[in-house]
Amino acid sequence: MKIIRSITEMQAVSKTHKSQGETVALVPTMGYLHKGHASLMRHAKENADVVIVSLFVNPTQFAQGEDFDSYPQDFERDKAVTEEIGVNYLFMPIASEMYPDGYNSSVVVSGISKKFEGSTRPTHFNGVAAVVAKLFNACLPDIAVFGQKDYQQTLVIKRFTRDLNFPVEIVVAPTKREKDGLAMSSRNVYLSEQECEDATILFKSLTKASEAIKAGERSRMVINNIMLDSLNSIDKINPDYACAADADTFDEPEEFARGQRIVLMIAVYLGKTRLIDNTVITLP
Ligand code: PAF
Repeated sequence: MKIIRSITEMQAVSKTHKSQGETVALVPTMGYLHKGHASLMRHAKENADVVIVSLFVNPTQFAQGEDFDSYPQDFERDKAVTEEIGVNYLFMPIASEMYPDGYNSSVVVSGISKKFEGSTRPTHFNGVAAVVAKLFNACLPDIAVFGQKDYQQTLVIKRFTRDLNFPVEIVVAPTKREKDGLAMSSRNVYLSEQECEDATILFKSLTKASEAIKAGERSRMVINNIMLDSLNSIDKINPDYACAADADTFDEPEEFARGQRIVLMIAVYLGKTRLIDNTVITLP
């Protein structure tokens, strides 16, 4: 596996592979890789000839007071994980090359960026969209693989990719979970043993709401309240939102329609840690 730091070198390498008729997949990450990332990389390997994993803790998607300065890092382990999977390139751009002096551009996806995560973290998706656009231009992938765990992020990325004509196919791979249902996340390292146990309430709440939907529930408020009541059964959990919405448009009708694909999304604070999870379900 080759480590590349320069954007022009990454572009040249990707172009060479493509000129030889090979397909290129990109898995964007912020490092501190876990089994969820590993499954995205395997997905990429199965679907392309060459796999690039980018590792860049992107400052512009963190707001003041969030965990940018303390975001977990373990380069040696990340290198070992990517090597073991057979990743071809680890792209680790330098912050000053990604955001040179005078950097003054933005990628803004209106509407879907503003709800849910966007209402608590108003600048987050602008940072994500800009850095992912930059990673696409640096790595020139045919496909890019993202985890469903960050559902709203995948929708924002799909939207700007389509709107701005990036020739990249966006693949969303399922969330990897611990045996007790906790969605894998680099931020789980912040949780104590007790908090890990408390955090299983997110998946339990999604499951409860899914069961109600399968049994015929269609009222959005009832579905949201099932999730909220379940989350509130754990004292330490402080829900930010628990919302059902159309899985493609984020519309929030009073009642969902038969056959409609919807997403249930939860965000909570547990101590200082913010946790999110979601599930997608088609109404019977
Ligand atoms: O999901 C992430 O780790 C990040 O938001 C991403 C897509 C790598 C952009 O920095």
